[in-house]
Amino acid sequence: MINKKLKEYRQSTIWIDEEPEYVEGKEVIKGDSSNKISILFRNTIPEIPSTTYGTFAIYKYPAKFIPQVIAYVLKKYAKPGMKIFDPFAGYGTAGVVSRVYGYDYELWDLNPMINIIHDTAVMKNPKVNFLDLIKKIKNSQKEFTPRWTNLNFWFPEDFIPILSKAWGFAHSLTDETKYALLIPLINVTRHFSYGDEKVHKLYKSKYSRKKIEELLKKDWKSQFYKMLEKEICKLLKKVWEYNRLNPKQVNYKIRSGINALETKLEDNVNILITSPPYLQAQEYIRSTKLELFWLGYEESYIKELSKKEIPYTPVNEIKIYSNKYFEYRDKIKENHLKILYERYFHAILNTFAALGEKVTDYMCIFVGPAKIRTTSIPIDDIIIEHLKEFGWKHEVTFIDKIVSRVMFESNVNPASGEKDSRIKTEHLVVLKRGG
Ligand SMILES: C[S@@+](CC[C@H](N)C(=O)[O-])C[C@H]1O[C@@H](n2cnc3c(N)ncnc32)[C@H](O)[C@@H]1O
Repeated sequence: MINKKLKEYRQSTIWIDEEPEYVEGKEVIKGDSSNKISILFRNTIPEIPSTTYGTFAIYKYPAKFIPQVIAYVLKKYAKPGMKIFDPFAGYGTAGVVSRVYGYDYELWDLNPMINIIHDTAVMKNPKVNFLDLIKKIKNSQKEFTPRWTNLNFWFPEDFIPILSKAWGFAHSLTDETKYALLIPLINVTRHFSYGDEKVHKLYKSKYSRKKIEELLKKDWKSQFYKMLEKEICKLLKKVWEYNRLNPKQVNYKIRSGINALETKLEDNVNILITSPPYLQAQEYIRSTKLELFWLGYEESYIKELSKKEIPYTPVNEIKIYSNKYFEYRDKIKENHLKILYERYFHAILNTFAALGEKVTDYMCIFVGPAKIRTTSIPIDDIIIEHLKEFGWKHEVTFIDKIVSRVMFESNVNPASGEKDSRIKTEHLVVLKRGG
């Protein structure tokens, strides 16, 4: 029963992408006695003039960091020779920015998408003749079609051959051209699918059905190649822009497909900076399922990954040292939401306490003050209270105010009938070792 309710809750929540709208203000605007400082991260880094600059937004990864958050932390807290670590790295922003400032880094994520996003984003300017590349794809005899039981649900039959040809060619490449092609091809594949591109989770909508109907009426073959060409050009421009930031040769390590709950850091790191999964239903694997299939991952593996996502994966209970945690837990009436809440905190607090043992200087944790139904949960304060027990001192919390960033929209609302509301602020908690 509980599992059924959790599954319903998980499926009813749609993750929609919206351009952030920031409230008025510049840089740090005020501080108060509880060490909370308002900030607009996006305005703090002159050398990174926009959130989509360079390769910081070549792919729409859900809940991605804006590069300025990482850059701000590095400029304020890092010293030459330090190593940066993100255990929930997603897009890999922490690494892509670390290179610009010359820091070594280590990135982990359950989602294997991190490999291709990262390797594309940090590419040196590739020597690619895109007209020649498109010609080669058209003439290629190689084919790749994912073994996906739902393939025909997500793509009209007519499109499969053209997609198989392009992907067959992409999989056969072994040089830099591969990275010039993969993300553009992913973006075009999304467009030629029934998936609604405005929604992060793979989701078929009235709008996206219409999109395919319209495409089928046109000369969609030429449109496919034209769009691919445009996407490749766009990417090459972005790579060029990133290289203008003069990224350095640094040491790095990426571990994908791993569960941060069960993995240990082998070596010490200086700064952990991360944004853990959201408390509200958000599914990163489901959001990138279409990509993972075309990239060649097997259905059984994708299902396994999906089961390990926080907060859905069952976790070992730990002792929680936060009064606020219990205070807010008691406010939750519905059993399945209480379980979600408990799993979430047991998972993230345990992960931070355990990984923190190998972090020598700072832990910077970026969270949104999420709601369960109508109750705002002070995730940042709960993290601070708990980690104090492990020798971490609260340095400051930066509050990035946004009018809207993402929206959770519930079609089916299992109990309250109310809509989950928008996240209004995001908090960066900075903790210092030894206090
Ligand atoms: C808020 S996102 C991080 C986004 C990242 N800051 C960026 O710039 O793209 C949280 C990440 O946690 C990952 N995740 C969820 N459960 C996990 C687990 N058990 N182990 C490791 N990573 C997990 C998700 O795949 C997702 O990429």
